This record gives sequence, structure tokens and C-alpha cells, in this order.
Amino acid sequence: MMKCCCLIVFIFCTFDVSNGGVLSRMCHASNGTCGGKGVPCNDTFGSGWLSNGLCCNDRPCCKFLKAPCVPETCPKGFKLLSNQTSSANCYYSSPADPATWNTWNTAEDHCASTDGAYLWRPNTEQEAIAIKNEVNYPSPMRLWTGANDIDNDGIFTFALENGSLSFNDLPFGIVGAPRNESCVMIINVVALWGWTKEPCTNVYPYICEYKLRVCP
Ligand SMILES: *[C@@H]1O[C@H](CO)[C@@H](O)[C@H](O)[C@H]1NC(C)=O
Ligand SMILES: *[C@@H]1O[C@H](CO)[C@@H](O)[C@H](O)[C@H]1NC(C)=O
Ligand SMILES: *[C@@H]1O[C@H](CO)[C@@H](O)[C@H](O)[C@H]1NC(C)=O
Ligand SMILES: *[C@@H]1O[C@H](CO)[C@@H](O)[C@H](O)[C@H]1NC(C)=O
Ligand SMILES: *[C@@H]1O[C@H](CO)[C@@H](O)[C@H](O)[C@H]1NC(C)=O
Repeated sequence: MMKCCCLIVFIFCTFDVSNGGVLSRMCHASNGTCGGKGVPCNDTFGSGWLSNGLCCNDRPCCKFLKAPCVPETCPKGFKLLSNQTSSANCYYSSPADPATWNTWNTAEDHCASTDGAYLWRPNTEQEAIAIKNEVNYPSPMRLWTGANDIDNDGIFTFALENGSLSFNDLPFGIVGAPRNESCVMIINVVALWGWTKEPCTNVYPYICEYKLRVCP
């Protein structure tokens, strides 16, 4: 890179031939790049570039500040609820045909195969109702949740999402059949929701959940 300070032009200017612009000292010191005269930096260099002072000849001194937050859409196979009052997350629902139902581990693996997705964490009854309205599983509807105590420490946590589930303080609904197994299924009978500890090898349909990243 050929640079020279040119006293004749301006004391404050430094030639930077590679950018074709005349850097001011401040722009040079900040590792900036000269943009086009009268043109916003992002138009010249793309989004994330902002004006950060001036170059000589009234050109903006441009710097790449940060990658913009790009609003996300749901991953392939996932969709938003039609009623998003209770949750703005994306959901995948496994097929309704009992022949396709899966063990907890297979369900969890399938959810985790989408980066950032996890086996459902039911948070509110409204969310559960909104999901019920989207799916077509046989009644009573039984679904795997991500909650499990596969490590047998007595504490139920949601796989990948890592939140905990206490059977003494359920987010909604009641404790279902009093079993002492490691994987948590949620059952819906009319307006009633029950949580039960089931053998992980049982097969049920399941919901995968994905939280969209929100731009500030
Ligand atoms: C400019 O770049 C140099 C070398 O890459 C770096 O050491 C210096 O901290 C940078 N200065 C600023 C203000 O970013
Ligand atoms: C440049 O930034 C302005 C305001 O920040 C924005 O309205 C415009 O869409 C941006 N242009 C590009 C090409 O990103
Ligand atoms: C959407 O869900 C909320 C509760 O989460 C409920 O109050 C509202 O009535 C629902 N809207 C429709 C159109 O079903
Ligand atoms: C959950 O915990 C695992 C293991 O500690 C970690 O790798 C993962 O990033 C955590 N997930 C979230 C959403 O915090
Ligand atoms: C439930 O299972 C755990 C682990 O297998 C065992 O430690 C615990 O005593 C059992 N509790 C009941 C009430 O059977």
C-alpha cells in the first residue's frame, strides 16, 4: 500500500491509493475508508457501514460497525401459531399417524437436528391450546415434552432448552398418572391438561419448538 503525506494538498490528508480516496488523519487513524461524495456509506459498501467522520474533499469516512440483525424466519418445516398471543415461537408438529410416533429419544434427536430447536417446553395453557388448535392428533391428545430426568437426579429439566419442571409447581394443568419414569408426556382431555412421567421408550407424537432471535 503506497501512502504519503501530502503537505501541498492538506496537512490533514493522507493519500491512500488503494481506496482511491483521500483519507483525513482521523479517518486513517480509525482504519476508515473513504466513501463516495454525497453517498451514504451503506450505499457504497453495504449495510452495517456507517459514516464516522469525514475524508478530504467532503467524502464520508466510512467504517464497518456491525453486522445488522437480520430478522429470522421459522426453520424449514416449522411455522408460527395462527394465534401468537401466547407464543411467537416457531413449531414443528410430527405426523398424526400412530405408525409414525416415536420414542422420547428419537423425538428429541429429531428436534435437535434443527439448530436451535428443542422438544417442546409447554409454558402456558394458552400456548398449549394454541398448539392443540394447529394439530390433528387423536383424542385424548398425548404429546412428548422435552422434560426428562434421564440422569436420574430427581430433577426434571427440558432437553437443550434447560429450563426445569417441578411436579410440585407445574406451569399449568395437573399431575397425571402417578408413575415414576424418566420422560414427561402431557395429555389433554377436553379442557384438562395432565403431566405424567412415562417410560422414554413409549411412542407419542411430539412438537419441536424454535425461538426466533429478536432484533433490538
Ligand atoms: C486499526 O487496525 C490496526 C491493525 O489492524 C489495529 O491494531 C488498530 O487497533 C485499529 N484501530 C482502530 C481504531 O480500530
Ligand atoms: C442505508 O441506511 C439508511 C438509514 O440508516 C437506510 O434507510 C437504507 O435502507 C440503507 N441502505 C442500504 C443499501 O442498506
Ligand atoms: C388468542 O389466544 C388468546 C389467549 O392466549 C385468547 O385470549 C384469544 O381469544 C385468542 N384469539 C383468537 C382469535 O382465538
Ligand atoms: C443447555 O445446556 C447445555 C449443556 O450445559 C449447553 O450446551 C446449552 O447451550 C444450553 N442451552 C441453552 C439454551 O442455554
Ligand atoms: C423413583 O425412581 C427413582 C429413580 O429410579 C428412585 O430413586 C425413587 O426412589 C423412585 N421413587 C418412588 C416414589 O418410587
